[in-house]
Amino acid sequence: MNPLFERVGVIGAGAMGRGIAQIAAQAGSVVVLFDMQPQACVAAQAGVFAQWDKLGEKGRMTAEQVAQCKLRLICADSLQALSDCKLVVEAVVERLDVKSALFAQLEGIVSPSAVLATNTSSLSVTAIAAQLKRPAQLAGYHFFNPVPLMKVVEVIAGLRTSKSVCDDLAVYARQMGHTPVLAQDTPGFIVNHAGRGYGTEALRIASEGVADFATIDQILKDQVGFKLGPFELMDLTALDVSHPVMESVYRQYYEEPRYRPSQITAQRLAGGLLGKKTGEGFYRYADGVVKTAAPAPVPSVPTMPPVWVSPRAARRAELLLLLKNLGAKIETGASPSAEALTLVAPLGFDVTTVAVVERLDPARTVGIDMLVADNETKRRVLATNPATRTDMRMAAHALMARDGKAVSVIRDSGGFVTQRVVATIVNIASDICQQAICSPADLETAVTLGLGYPLGPLAMGNHYGPTNVLEVLFNMQTVYGDPRYRPSPWLRRRGAIGLSLLHEEEAM
Ligand code: NAI
Repeated sequence: MNPLFERVGVIGAGAMGRGIAQIAAQAGSVVVLFDMQPQACVAAQAGVFAQWDKLGEKGRMTAEQVAQCKLRLICADSLQALSDCKLVVEAVVERLDVKSALFAQLEGIVSPSAVLATNTSSLSVTAIAAQLKRPAQLAGYHFFNPVPLMKVVEVIAGLRTSKSVCDDLAVYARQMGHTPVLAQDTPGFIVNHAGRGYGTEALRIASEGVADFATIDQILKDQVGFKLGPFELMDLTALDVSHPVMESVYRQYYEEPRYRPSQITAQRLAGGLLGKKTGEGFYRYADGVVKTAAPAPVPSVPTMPPVWVSPRAARRAELLLLLKNLGAKIETGASPSAEALTLVAPLGFDVTTVAVVERLDPARTVGIDMLVADNETKRRVLATNPATRTDMRMAAHALMARDGKAVSVIRDSGGFVTQRVVATIVNIASDICQQAICSPADLETAVTLGLGYPLGPLAMGNHYGPTNVLEVLFNMQTVYGDPRYRPSPWLRRRGAIGLSLLHEEEAM
């Protein structure tokens, strides 16, 4: 099959440009690569050739395919050499003035029908196109690093971009083996916008002293199934990349509290604790390998107190069954006896508030996060309140660890760790739908392929229950009085009537 664009120009031969050049050549296009530093171009070409040799050795490409691909990747010594290209993708330095000037120059070189694409991750496509004679020809084409492995690309329509340009870029993305998602030109587009919830809420939890970095990572991996915890992820990405993205999206949305960055990353960035690449980030690394602390031992408790469960606990029947299976002595009275360990399982509210509202003895009250079904989680999470007695905390910990499942005990906060992070992710995703930045289906695709989440954010909301997520947010707003937990109207409408978040239609 012939590629839609037979001759493609790629400008900028850095990490991104070389990846784009590789997949375009693999799709059958002749690729003309240009960089203002000729040696960068030569190095990129050699790098891509080495990749193809490896694919050949692994049997993923035939020797003939490798040879053909190599013939199709050409280094150019001037922009003029791109004159016959029907598509030019730019991956130069992330500066508006440089990108605008480059495209203005290109307009005088390529044919009027040529498609111009920018790989910007944070600049406005509309602003890049503003000074062009033919702004309709320019769109965003946002790939992810490393391009050959991250098989999703955001096709971004600026205010003046023609629909056919976006359609062609989407078709060509598929020919390169990538999945295109269509986005409006808004800060962070889809992936960098949807990704705000995970790290920023985890940072906020850490900044409140609710749990340390490693515990937060463990909880989110074991309860929700994220491959990497938020702090592991930030260590991998490095703070010199991720902190500026947090600041950029926040500023571009005129300080929308949902995207508020954290002083923790600002300070660590200033101090050079960037992550794995500098040997120290949220974790310490020795020769690239993380050094982790041993988990806290399960306390030994000579006599286990009886357990009483609040009638308002989330998943109460399931919690009672779990306690029975763990061999607990369960109290069934209307209120706990004087010895009883008192378990509450709030959604969004903190354990302290629940103890006060339900007139329970805070000294014997411990919370458990029941947002996630017990058979789905590899870890149980308990929270104490400021008055919880040590013997009660130890008893709850020992009881919940009886079957060998991991247990984390955290400090009290509205919404535990998982509830806060899941609700924030779902809320931000819902607001992306509210703003019609992309379709719900493209949002799910972009997040699962671009961020590697176990579920798309809307499917995640459905999984834990839109009504539960809404309840967490409403109650978090009450606990913190913070507008960052204000539910998006999109989620509020669906959550209020218990509708699937993937239900796209809204009658007009
Ligand atoms: P890089 O620094 O690895 O490479 C940029 C290359 O562009 C350099 O070789 C440089 O010599 C060349 N260059 C700079 N100005 C030029 C000009 N006026 N004309 C020709 N060549 C020029 O940068 P990287 O990481 O490849 O990023 C490129 C673009 O892709 C940026 O806009 C960045 O925001 C975006 N991006 C980067 C991602 C990443 O993870 N690195 C992910 C997604 C987008």
